[in-house]
Amino acid sequence: MSYIQKNLFFFSLRKRGLAMAVNPMCDHNRLFIDGIDAVELAKRYGTPLYVYSEDEMIAKMREYTSAVRAYAGDGQVVYASKAYLNMRMARLVAEEGLWMDVASGGELHIALAGGFPAENVVFHGNNKTVEELDMAVRAGVGRIVVDSLDEILMLEAVAKARKRVQAVVLRVTPGIDPHTHEYLTTGEIDSKFGIALHEDRGIQAAYQISLCPHLDFKGIHCHIGSQIFEVDPFVMAADIMMEFISALWRTTGIAVEELNLGGGLGVSYTDEEEIPVSDYIRVMSQEVQAKASEFGLRVPRMFVEPGRSIVAQAGVTLYTVGMVKELPGGELVVSVDGGMSDNPRPMLYGAKYQALLCDGQKGRALCRVRIVGKHCEEGDTLIKEICLPEPRTGDILAVLVTGAYHYSMSSNYNGALRPAVVHVRDGRAYLVVERQTLADLVRGQRATLDDESDGYAKAAGGQS
Ligand SMILES: Cc1ncc(COP(=O)(O)O)c(C=O)c1O
Repeated sequence: MSYIQKNLFFFSLRKRGLAMAVNPMCDHNRLFIDGIDAVELAKRYGTPLYVYSEDEMIAKMREYTSAVRAYAGDGQVVYASKAYLNMRMARLVAEEGLWMDVASGGELHIALAGGFPAENVVFHGNNKTVEELDMAVRAGVGRIVVDSLDEILMLEAVAKARKRVQAVVLRVTPGIDPHTHEYLTTGEIDSKFGIALHEDRGIQAAYQISLCPHLDFKGIHCHIGSQIFEVDPFVMAADIMMEFISALWRTTGIAVEELNLGGGLGVSYTDEEEIPVSDYIRVMSQEVQAKASEFGLRVPRMFVEPGRSIVAQAGVTLYTVGMVKELPGGELVVSVDGGMSDNPRPMLYGAKYQALLCDGQKGRALCRVRIVGKHCEEGDTLIKEICLPEPRTGDILAVLVTGAYHYSMSSNYNGALRPAVVHVRDGRAYLVVERQTLADLVRGQRATLDDESDGYAKAAGGQS
């Protein structure tokens, strides 16, 4: 790493709420996360460990809120909790006045357990069950985003049974390619999500909702994908949605009060160029306003639903280096005590990361290394190639920008224990999720097939 690269690297670290104490005299660098020594955190809580800067998450939430206030008046920021959710996070989002997107009964449960107000919840999902819809209606969630004609009928029946009128938003697919990984694209017409706008399907669905006495049609929603680094696809989505709103009004007289344009703003993991939050909000709201005046419509209340861009850069994963192997050709393969079970993104999307040794270089030579996990898959690689001071067994390694879709996508593959989560706030570290234990791995399991295991007989009548 050249001098300039090194300094750029430290600069980007600082931008992320991390700081390196650099002593050039002894070339001894140490990673601090909002003032807390990463090596000390690893010692205290063990590894792998997810560490989050609350200041960083709060700053991002406020950046969104002030941009929405500035450009979209009565607009609302909805945090997409699939990116990262636990009870503490639910509380933090509530304190910042954001609404929350949940995509299952499980996420709804966590949000409510953390004290999140149900009326500010937006409930998503392409295959919500009757039980989940009932749970949401009973809890009094603010919006249910209906995703199919079947769901409209199902939800009407649920709301009727509960004697409630449920506010709903219709999810549609505007048919846009946002130029991101195919697994992160969700707004094309062959998407499994929402209702395509083609052949008046969107209009029919909205009309169907308007016929349901227990559903209150509030508006429409789209989410074109994730990790998007260009404004054009967002503007195009706003454009198409406004055209749909106009067509809906002209053909049915149904007015759209709310327009939810989803999330998807790209985040830099290595050196990608990000769109500033304020630019992203500004261009979309300007498009919505321009189209509203062109079509003679009232400007709908704009909702945005960011997930990744609020939490990604606030998170770091700490690992302990285990075995280090030198391959023919000199490449070093460095194994850490986690891998695809705490970070499946490299395997899913070919995601790239930066990493560093938390307790510096101590004059060690720089070398090219591959960082791999401990799982039984050759593809379990966290970073294919990175230049680091020669890592040694016992070092603490930090992989950066791991705040989004890591903890929430973690698994027990190979019997891995899901890591603990620590939040740092005002110079103190707080354990917000305990590390799983070996007992958690066998909780609810049975080794025998006796009566106690609830044996269910095959014969009609189901004798057990
Ligand atoms: C409906 C919906 N809204 C918002 C988001 C958040 O996207 P991102 O994390 O890219 O901001 C997602 C992510 O998949 C989503 O499916």
